[in-house]
Amino acid sequence: MMSQQYRMGVVGLGEGRSIMSAALQSKQWELVQVCDLNEQLCREREQEFSFNNWTTSYEAMLANENIDVIAIYTPDQLHFTHIKQAVLAGKHVICTKPVLHSLEQASELLALMAQTDRKLFIGQSSRFFEPMLHQRRDFEAGNHGELAVVETQYITDGRWFLEKGWSKQAGFSWMYNFMIHAVDLVKWYLPDVTEVMGFARTSENSLEHNLEVWDSLRFLMRNEQGQIAQISGDYTLPTLDLAVEPSIACVLRGSKGTSRAEYSNLLYHTKFTGQPAQTTSFEEKQDYYFRFGGTSHHAGEYQNYIEYFADCLDAARDPLPDANEAIHTLAIMEAMTRSVQLGGQPVKISTILAEYNLTEKQQ
Ligand SMILES: NC(=O)c1ccc[n+]([C@@H]2O[C@H](COP(=O)([O-])OP(=O)(O)OC[C@H]3O[C@@H](n4cnc5c(N)ncnc54)[C@H](O)[C@@H]3O)[C@@H](O)[C@H]2O)c1
Repeated sequence: MMSQQYRMGVVGLGEGRSIMSAALQSKQWELVQVCDLNEQLCREREQEFSFNNWTTSYEAMLANENIDVIAIYTPDQLHFTHIKQAVLAGKHVICTKPVLHSLEQASELLALMAQTDRKLFIGQSSRFFEPMLHQRRDFEAGNHGELAVVETQYITDGRWFLEKGWSKQAGFSWMYNFMIHAVDLVKWYLPDVTEVMGFARTSENSLEHNLEVWDSLRFLMRNEQGQIAQISGDYTLPTLDLAVEPSIACVLRGSKGTSRAEYSNLLYHTKFTGQPAQTTSFEEKQDYYFRFGGTSHHAGEYQNYIEYFADCLDAARDPLPDANEAIHTLAIMEAMTRSVQLGGQPVKISTILAEYNLTEKQQ
């Protein structure tokens, strides 16, 4: 069956640069219009992509009837407002992570999505990186046997990020903005995490930027069946060379095999029972994933996820993560926060959900 071509508008042209590139290269998408308050940035993107349909008014873009889907790449603190405006304007929505910067607006977002036939897809890019996609296929094929442990990490020297004004505003945290990639990977494999515990600290490198947020964090979590996850994050410390240690990694350990998918190394390591240990390199896809030099933009992952979203729209299927799943991930992060505040005590996800009037069933 021929799939339909969907028409996209993008708001926020910092990271939105990646989705512009993704839409312009995808047969399943047409880029119709882009928007940023910063006119200079609009002009830069016009030059870069030879694409001149831009506006500085989000409202004007929402009124454009030639747009089916709005893709949101504005600061975390604005996502809720921008999603709500787009849905009320009759658009489907792709919103980058985190869908919200706290659980305060979670029940309102779920109520909004329950009242509409529009779809909301959260762009958790790490799931859509080549090694992670291959690892998922091995997991679904049962190659790991019974899953025992998931270990994820996002360790990067993110001090460059502190140049952005909104990193100093209320609502910014390394956990919500960076570590969420590692939490989402756990959520993908252990959807029913029930309990978490952990420790966190703030380094003198954050304090130098007058930022008092936790920048080194370690957590353990488990689900009803006793499967365990371990998550690590460091954000203002010098890091090892990527060849030695990937910034994002997802390790699955099961009764029949272990695998490790790496970002940005494009490497996937496996050891399955009866097979030799293997390392697969996807080096040939370097230019597909990293189109702008450096690895801080994610064009390849975005092209993979907008094509997945188009397939979901074609089939009238709910894309994942949707609002429910993304909000459950935020509830896990709220439990992580609470555990640190309690000096490392275990915190149940159900306690957090109840506090924010979010039922288990909604998840
Ligand atoms: N891998 C990933 O999934 C990934 C990577 C990087 C960033 N992000 C997410 O992308 C979002 C943006 O991050 P960034 O690093 O590009 O930030 P940024 O500050 O560089 O860019 C945000 C842009 O939004 C624009 N903007 C703000 N309010 C607006 C409004 N009302 N109308 C139009 N434009 C508006 C700003 O002018 C700015 O250019 C964040 O939510 C971040 O978490 C996701």
